[in-house]
Amino acid sequence: MKKSGAGLSRRAFLGAGAVLGASALLAPTRTGQARVPAPFAPTRTVALKAGEAELKLLGPDRPATRILAYDGEPFRTLRLPRGTRLQATFLNGMHEGSTLHFHGIRMPNEYDGVPTLTQPLVQPGGSFVHLLPLDDPGTFFFHPHCDETGQAGRGLVGVLIVEDPRDPAFDAEHVLTLKDWRLADDGGFLELSEPNGASRVGTFGATRTVNGAVSLNLTAPAGGDVRLRILNVDSTRIMDIGVEGGEAWLIAVDGHALRPVRLDDLPDGVWRMGPAQRIDVHLRMPRDGSPVQVGDYRAADIYHFATIAAEGKVARPRKGPLALPKPELPRPDMKKAERFSFTLQQATDAAVKDIALPPDDPLAKALLDSLCVGSTTYWGIDSESWPTGSRRNVPPPLARMTTGRSYAVEIKNETRFPHPVHLHGHAFEVLSSSLDRLPRHFADTVLVQPGEAVTVAFVAAPGDWVFHCHILEHMETGMMGWFRIV
Ligand code: C2O
Ligand code: CU
Repeated sequence: MKKSGAGLSRRAFLGAGAVLGASALLAPTRTGQARVPAPFAPTRTVALKAGEAELKLLGPDRPATRILAYDGEPFRTLRLPRGTRLQATFLNGMHEGSTLHFHGIRMPNEYDGVPTLTQPLVQPGGSFVHLLPLDDPGTFFFHPHCDETGQAGRGLVGVLIVEDPRDPAFDAEHVLTLKDWRLADDGGFLELSEPNGASRVGTFGATRTVNGAVSLNLTAPAGGDVRLRILNVDSTRIMDIGVEGGEAWLIAVDGHALRPVRLDDLPDGVWRMGPAQRIDVHLRMPRDGSPVQVGDYRAADIYHFATIAAEGKVARPRKGPLALPKPELPRPDMKKAERFSFTLQQATDAAVKDIALPPDDPLAKALLDSLCVGSTTYWGIDSESWPTGSRRNVPPPLARMTTGRSYAVEIKNETRFPHPVHLHGHAFEVLSSSLDRLPRHFADTVLVQPGEAVTVAFVAAPGDWVFHCHILEHMETGMMGWFRIV
């Protein structure tokens, strides 16, 4: 950060210097190919303090549950305009170590919040400053990246909405954050992970909620256009999201716009969504004012989590879907893309190896100091597993890649269970599914069904980025690896 160039005011320059010291952010360009270092001048500053809060999850007359939340607010929600330079300070007000991870945000690797790989664990009472360029509009979320089954399982999740002033005007918008809880009758938590669940489909919560309530009664004008932002922040559950009583289109996945797809045109008329996945749905309310229901249709016992009643009427109802502006993401060059293939495995089936970094490697040392390891290994990726139990070292990277190059990554699921697979720090393009069930779209997490192979492609951004299943118990019992991009 030598001379302040191109229109940078002295105040902004000093502000950035005070925060950052000598380091500088990498500003993405439109193509994502060339990245030009620029000083980071925050335009918004927030503090997010993790700690306990109370929530009546079992009903108004039943005991409250002591959950975890940021700033005492269940599903703390940040709404910021696209282009914001966010300085977010994580404060750990809990009795255990943690970190903060902004899921799906493309950012400099050092702010990614993955303990041992990108930063040390934040101890109780400690803090960490994240500097995030919010260049991609959309529906995102944030959560800890340590003991996630325990911390996110008890509610430590926040919502990040990056607004785009170019979006079409909707008549109403509702954010619907879905999460289940594992509760005993006294409002306390049951064991959040059990071996039977962790080694298979996951350990489910029986108390289902949307925004912390059993269900929501919402309103929108008859004939009006409603934007629903639906987030699956559950640790475990895969949901089939559908709408009854109105016309609905899928307009964004994981925050990123796609060409609108009518929900009725998708397999079974639903969007199947694993933990960490988000969708934006454009719902057109019926003109006659009849109510609309939004639900999870995966189980025989349908969970209708929102009922939207008509209140008033729009003057001039519109036709066709309201598309969001095209995402401005780096587009992988498929002619030049280098190919990788990774297989999701069960440890027992695959004899997952015990490969470790040499013990004098600084990463390995840092890992020994952290507690972010599970006690058992049930899963692996390509015969490797993230350290758990007796494997206390970070495995070697699954892949070494070059910044700015395009990669096509095939994810093969050889297990009997579906896995929502997430890559940090990138938005990838979902190119194909061997079961041919996915429209082409950008995402940060993709659900891979048993026996399926899904191919995604992206332009590599520099850093050490984890690649893992977002069923939190799977991730914590081995289904996590990482890419080193230099
Ligand atoms: Cu929601 Cu490792 O991420
Ligand atoms: Cu999984």
